[in-house]
Amino acid sequence: AATHHHEWEISYQFKSPDCVRKLAVTINGQSPGPTIRATQGDTIVVRVNNSLLTENVAIHWHGIRQIGTPWADGTEGVTQCPILPGDAFTYTFAVDRPGTYMYHAHYGMQRSAGLYGMIIVAAAPGGPDAEPFAYDGEHAVLLNDWWHDSVYEQAAGLASVPMRWVGEPHSLLLNGRGRFNCSAVAAEGTCNATLPECDAPVFDVVPGKTYRFRIGSLTSLCALNFEIEGHPMTVVEADGHYVKPFVVNNLNIYSGETYSVLIKANQDPSRNYWLASNVVSRKPGTPTGTAILSYAAGGRSPPPTTPPTGPAWNDTMYRFQQSVATVAHPAHVEPPPPRAGRTLLLLNTQNKIDGRVRWALNNVSFKLPHTPYLVALKRGLLGAFDQRPPPETYEHQSYNIYDPPPNPNATSSDGLYRLAFGSVVDVVLQNANMLAANNSETHPWHLHGHDFWVLGYGIGRFDPAVHPASYNLKDPILKNTVAVHPYGWTALRFKADNPGVWAFHCHIEAHFFMGMGIVFEEGLERVAELPGEIMGCGKTKGGRH
Ligand code: C2O
Ligand code: CU
Repeated sequence: AATHHHEWEISYQFKSPDCVRKLAVTINGQSPGPTIRATQGDTIVVRVNNSLLTENVAIHWHGIRQIGTPWADGTEGVTQCPILPGDAFTYTFAVDRPGTYMYHAHYGMQRSAGLYGMIIVAAAPGGPDAEPFAYDGEHAVLLNDWWHDSVYEQAAGLASVPMRWVGEPHSLLLNGRGRFNCSAVAAEGTCNATLPECDAPVFDVVPGKTYRFRIGSLTSLCALNFEIEGHPMTVVEADGHYVKPFVVNNLNIYSGETYSVLIKANQDPSRNYWLASNVVSRKPGTPTGTAILSYAAGGRSPPPTTPPTGPAWNDTMYRFQQSVATVAHPAHVEPPPPRAGRTLLLLNTQNKIDGRVRWALNNVSFKLPHTPYLVALKRGLLGAFDQRPPPETYEHQSYNIYDPPPNPNATSSDGLYRLAFGSVVDVVLQNANMLAANNSETHPWHLHGHDFWVLGYGIGRFDPAVHPASYNLKDPILKNTVAVHPYGWTALRFKADNPGVWAFHCHIEAHFFMGMGIVFEEGLERVAELPGEIMGCGKTKGGRH
């Protein structure tokens, strides 16, 4: 197995990803950052130099389980102190499974400022994880949404009374590029439609060949629908796991998810076709994000058609059915343990604390402690966070998920859930109405340090006496991010077998910022000595502790 060394400098740069100039956080001057490529079993070493002048940083390797290296998870407040301006931090971790993964900042709302990229891990040739499908070429598409307001303005607005919501994004980006309508920009000289920086990305195909598209989403807010005009997609991978193939014209993808699809370049090769991303689940206020699928004869020119606008944004059942259709490939089924030792039933609500709008689980809104849990727990610093665990359930018999919360006030806590090492844990995420009537959003939940089996989905109130009987224990997909649909529930199961401290949160940047997350600890006594690098700054970091 090989070791891949990367030297990254994180800096502010003025960028125009959608032709509008804006301050971005970049890696070696780029946003998105460089794609990390490796083969299963390899080791990745990334030395991150923080050259941001006035801002901390931490980088999370999304979908990489960090077995034996919990301190490299890059979660500020959970696994490490942030990397201070002028400091450097070296992340070393193994990529033990093939598949499509991502990385992004995990500090404040910094991910939305442009610090993100893709990780592509090839299967070990001839090994048991070799792909159960064939293709002639491959492309990668990383989806995002983009605002012209800075993340500082966004965060300040979210924390204000009354809250100033971030609103719908100005643009949707594909591989960091979009196209804003310059005539809608007031300030002279800040929008330039002729910049090559905001040219649509072009994906070349040769007639008759089959292509794998790796698609990832790191949107700050939006659920997206992705399509390739005229080219049905066969879904073959989700979050690094092989899927029982199914064909879609429109792929729904939530923030934190990755998919691979296969397409055949079998359309009229005299023209080009659109790749399109559209907002779903929220009423769209953002134009379609586009790129070009190019058959050589079509050159670089835009397709002659208008870009597809996707399915109806509020067709929840359409998205629900695609979630249900995503199950394990028959030759790669890893059956889940038949039952769980513990079940957390987490009600997702929007609440208020001291007049501020927050998100809460079972009426408790999460706040990050100032001392990272991993360090606090290893050193026995019991005063570093609330030692009382958050609640495991809520009044599920009486709670009406279709009404706004009867008691809008929540409390906040930095307590965590301690799991018995090796135990099997079920989590049921129950969605509900928000503070305003007749509204429930889609929440993409992401678990660090593990993959979980997706046992079931429902719309309506989850009943612990009824619904577990309908769980899919035969061929559930393993994932690291899963959607909870409006007014719905999602049940997942995982094994607490990775020593460390792991975040579990809604991947909508604003929602996690407003408290929509929890933290698990398991097997702490098995965590090796912590590298001093994860704590403090400069020379105070010291050796191993
Ligand atoms: Cu990709 Cu904690 O997130
Ligand atoms: Cu959310």
